[in-house]
Amino acid sequence: MAGIYPFFHPLESSEGSVVQLEGKDIIMLGSNNYLGLTHHPKVLAAAKQAINDFGTSCTGSRFLNGNLKLHLKLEENLANFFGYEQALVFSAAFLANIGVLDTLGKHQDAIIFSEKENHASLIDGARLAPCEVRLFEDPDDLEKQLSKQENWSNALVVIDAVFSMTGRIAKLKEFAALRRQYGFRLYVDDAHGIGVFGPQGRGTIFEQGVQQDVDLLFGTFSKALASVGGFVAGEKMVIDYLRHKTRSLIFTAGLPPASAAAALAALQVMQKEADEILPKIRENARYWKQGLDEIGYYTMDSVSQIIPTMIGSESLAFRIARDLLDMGVFAIPVPYPVVPCGQSLIRTSVMPTHTKEHLDKALDAFSIIYKRYSIPKFDPDNLPVADKEDWSYFMPQKTN
Ligand SMILES: Cc1ncc(COP(=O)(O)O)c(C=O)c1O
Repeated sequence: MAGIYPFFHPLESSEGSVVQLEGKDIIMLGSNNYLGLTHHPKVLAAAKQAINDFGTSCTGSRFLNGNLKLHLKLEENLANFFGYEQALVFSAAFLANIGVLDTLGKHQDAIIFSEKENHASLIDGARLAPCEVRLFEDPDDLEKQLSKQENWSNALVVIDAVFSMTGRIAKLKEFAALRRQYGFRLYVDDAHGIGVFGPQGRGTIFEQGVQQDVDLLFGTFSKALASVGGFVAGEKMVIDYLRHKTRSLIFTAGLPPASAAAALAALQVMQKEADEILPKIRENARYWKQGLDEIGYYTMDSVSQIIPTMIGSESLAFRIARDLLDMGVFAIPVPYPVVPCGQSLIRTSVMPTHTKEHLDKALDAFSIIYKRYSIPKFDPDNLPVADKEDWSYFMPQKTN
């Protein structure tokens, strides 16, 4: 693939914000380790202790032989921290989304309203659910669809709080107001907001003050919480129901001990050290975005730790990701169909553990790229729309 295939890079080791790849140190701007906790001493120690106490695997479903006191402690901590009656922990967050939507979608007369740009796990959950599924674009479009009847107590509205590729943040207050008006249940996936927004990293729903209107909160451990697995939190009756009905919980092995312990330790570190960590991530996000804006990139008004740069052509995004690696920077190319055709991105995300030196070095690389490929000035009101993907950059290029 012209030497620019950008996926499945085999990392050789990692210190979080710097990784080793192809024998070189590379600044990591493509990870979801938003709090930089994957190498925190308390998180490492908790994972090691859990292996000593419980071994390496649950060797079975939580429903049967694979349920640990550690899972229950993690669930209790999550419920308390996010202010819900109960939480339910899954071995992958993807499994939580598909399982919860499938299970709730089996309810008599259920109907799911799902945002068009939702994450793949929500899309697949809605596909699995045997009920009617309707898509909507934004709160206005949702309201248009809801306004056809008065009461929607049989409906579940499913949204992402922070969009994973663009960093766009959902207008949660508008969804909360619609919920109060039409009586639906609201399910919020805050995979990218927990740890970063709200008091002590409680997430986007707390940042926007809508927690009372969120019936089910979804989170993952694989981003800010430095592990793997995920959870949903909500009313006791609903969580109990999910615990006994959800196929992606019952028919798969429990979250491994080390992963459960790492998530719990990361949650505790986040609560204790939030005052120190959160300002650093916000400052790094501000500094990084300002640097990219000054070079001339279109960063899509991101106000989160996820900062995209629009490139346009699919194959150019791939080539740039390769060039960046050659200059010691890891960033993610995002081609069609993840984004509209002709609007490919290079997605970056910062951590509190990035130093100004890391960011300055990466900005130098992005500046070289900007000139090398004459990246166009994008007009937010008139973004390019292509009818077919551009693969021309797969041809060998002359670079200066
Ligand atoms: C918005 C969103 N929801 C759910 C998931 C699934 O999380 P996990 O990778 O922890 O299974 C992701 C992961 O990329 C995500 O971005």
